[in-house]
Amino acid sequence: MLSDFGVATETIDRVPEGHAVVKVDTLSIDAWIRTTLSDGGLHETGDLGSTIRAFGVGRVVESNDASLNEGDWVYGLLSAQTHALMPAKALTKVSPQPGIAPSAFVGPLGITTGITAWVGLIAVGNVQAGEVVLVSGAAGAVGSCVVQLAKARGARVIGIAGGPEKCAYLVNEIGADAAIDYKTGDVGGQIRALAPDGIDVFFDNVGGEILDAALDNLRETGGSRVVICGASYQYQNFEDVRGPKLHLRLAERNAAMLGFVVSHHAARFGEAMAEISALILESRMHLREHVVAPIDRFPDALLMLFDGSHIGNLVVRP
Ligand SMILES: NC(=O)c1ccc[n+]([C@@H]2O[C@H](COP(=O)([O-])OP(=O)(O)OC[C@H]3O[C@@H](n4cnc5c(N)ncnc54)[C@H](OP(=O)(O)O)[C@@H]3O)[C@@H](O)[C@H]2O)c1
Repeated sequence: MLSDFGVATETIDRVPEGHAVVKVDTLSIDAWIRTTLSDGGLHETGDLGSTIRAFGVGRVVESNDASLNEGDWVYGLLSAQTHALMPAKALTKVSPQPGIAPSAFVGPLGITTGITAWVGLIAVGNVQAGEVVLVSGAAGAVGSCVVQLAKARGARVIGIAGGPEKCAYLVNEIGADAAIDYKTGDVGGQIRALAPDGIDVFFDNVGGEILDAALDNLRETGGSRVVICGASYQYQNFEDVRGPKLHLRLAERNAAMLGFVVSHHAARFGEAMAEISALILESRMHLREHVVAPIDRFPDALLMLFDGSHIGNLVVRP
């Protein structure tokens, strides 16, 4: 509830050795943040009264460490605040350039967004040209990047999202070949109509009934990969999590289901950054931003992540 959140003002009196102060430019509102607000969250539980964690990009305004200079752009766990006092070693320098805005480092080049999409689709899903790729949560931050990466790799892409506006965004703005509005029902039938020979790669951000509908439409001749990136449908209701009913399709269709955590694939981040940067500069990767401002509205943005009211990357500009 919004009344569970509060805003506090603190003064930074001095910058200890090895630290820097960063003026926060853009914060990424990611599903994992929600898990830090419940007991036993996968990403640890935040203490009562602590600042809500969030990845962000910002500019160094004061530094007491030789590795960082005033004006440097940095990425890190800057959290829900206007200025972050951070150990320099917890910050990664980034290099915005003409055509690549600072906020791209929490968007297409963000670890929890574009890099997650790349790792899931390419390192884990091993997508190949000519394959049929189905993406759930396709109009969200990760999903939008998956759609465009799959197209760039020569796949045929079907996105699943909630509502006609999101479906139009998928097809008209980011190049999906087709879109399914899961709110109109019979998702399984809609997948079958668009991909009668079945799905090669299902990139799942949502879980639940949509996962079952995809399992039921895996290619009968075998070799499909189901990539479990997340399960947005269950983050609001950890007490009643239900698994897929049709998991036996994996055996029947000789298919694989693989999960991943993006941080386990850090060795390939450089490769991912290079491919995505090139696509951005060629105007083949574009991520719409839904901006919420100022910092007081961070809790509104967090709740918005799960009510489906944003398209693309949900961010806060403090
Ligand atoms: N594995 C990893 O390392 C990793 C890293 C980062 C993120 N993730 C995961 O990636 C997923 C996407 O994250 P994101 O930041 O890009 O979020 P997002 O897709 O921008 O936002 C979540 C979207 O999920 C959809 N959704 C929410 N509840 C739903 C429901 N009950 N049924 C169907 N759709 C529902 C909504 O879109 P609609 O309006 O279309 O329903 C909502 O916009 C999350 O599950 C997150 O946990 C995983």
